[in-house]
Amino acid sequence: MPAPADPAPAPSAFRSDLFLGRRVLVTGGASGIGLAVSRAFCDHGADVVLLSRNEERLAAAAAGLGPQARWFAADVRDADRLQEVAREVGDVDVLVNAAAGNFPAPFSAMSPNAWQSVQDIVLGGTVNATRAFGEPMLGRPEAGCSIVNVVAGYAWTGAPGVSHSGAAKAGVLNLSKSLAVEWAPAVRCNAVSPGPIGDTEGMKRLGEDLGLADAVVASTPLKRMGEAREVADACLFLASPAASYVTGACLVVDGGQDAVGPFGSMLTAMQA
Ligand code: COA
Ligand code: NAP
Repeated sequence: MPAPADPAPAPSAFRSDLFLGRRVLVTGGASGIGLAVSRAFCDHGADVVLLSRNEERLAAAAAGLGPQARWFAADVRDADRLQEVAREVGDVDVLVNAAAGNFPAPFSAMSPNAWQSVQDIVLGGTVNATRAFGEPMLGRPEAGCSIVNVVAGYAWTGAPGVSHSGAAKAGVLNLSKSLAVEWAPAVRCNAVSPGPIGDTEGMKRLGEDLGLADAVVASTPLKRMGEAREVADACLFLASPAASYVTGACLVVDGGQDAVGPFGSMLTAMQA
């Protein structure tokens, strides 16, 4: 019997030509949430540049997205390489910083290099990409450029088990707000904060590898993991003219996890 066809994707809530004529660069754009973001911008008319390290994955992702997509292999820790890519790419209208490195480990089990690697990728990489692709936006104040940084809910709580990533994401969130002010009115800068997103490396590392997937769903008010497409929709909104008065914001896409808060956690613990 033939396999059932995949269900048709839900129709987009956005106009299909929303980003026509716009160039979007997505770090970490060849996999997971970054790939969904790249696909969403392509589907809405943009030319999209994917940037990450693994060439095979980049080529496959770009081929899947079609002629609007191209790719550059680069490590976001390499500031000179990003400047080189920026010269080749030309003007970028929207920068999405989605590249990240993370692995669950207690603070005491992290070597100095383990800690530093995550700082250098997450915070350092966002800084490098922002300098290379974001700073030139200041020279085109009429162009309506914007930056969207992908953070995580533990940027404003604590991050036990992933303290390196928590500290780095807190830095990225803070940088988003600082640049929202320093670069206004020319460039808007916002963040998006995904909750647990199924079918991603991040969730595999933090959920499946630790056997926490069921607990994650149970503790999420919407009682499911999110889809990468749902984070991509938030990025489309933040980069679109619909968000023209939105800067310095962090849009939380987490199924209600952040809203649970200390009182909700206490009630859940009492009911368990
Ligand atoms: N527990 C403890 N330490 C770990 C670890 C783990 N699970 N995984 C890696 N490390 C340590 C390494 O031992 C090394 O430290 P050392 O030199 O003192 O031994 C340090 O982290 C750097 O590892 P390395 O593999 O050399 O770094 P890298 O720069 O090539 O890779 C990582 C960076 C470790 C973040 C890697 O997981 C990665 O590339 N991740 C990208 C994808 C990803 O994380 N996706 C999820 C996004 S949320
Ligand atoms: P992912 O697929 O592993 O995405 C990370 C991407 O970053 C990969 O494409 C990776 O490609 C790239 N990358 C890693 N290190 C890099 C480096 N040094 N230079 C350039 N690119 C690098 O994982 P994901 O789960 O979709 O995560 C995407 C983003 O969402 C991350 O910022 C993550 O923190 C955030 N997030 C995810 C979740 C979740 O539930 N998944 C929740 C909250 C936040 P290469 O390895 O080829 O370089």
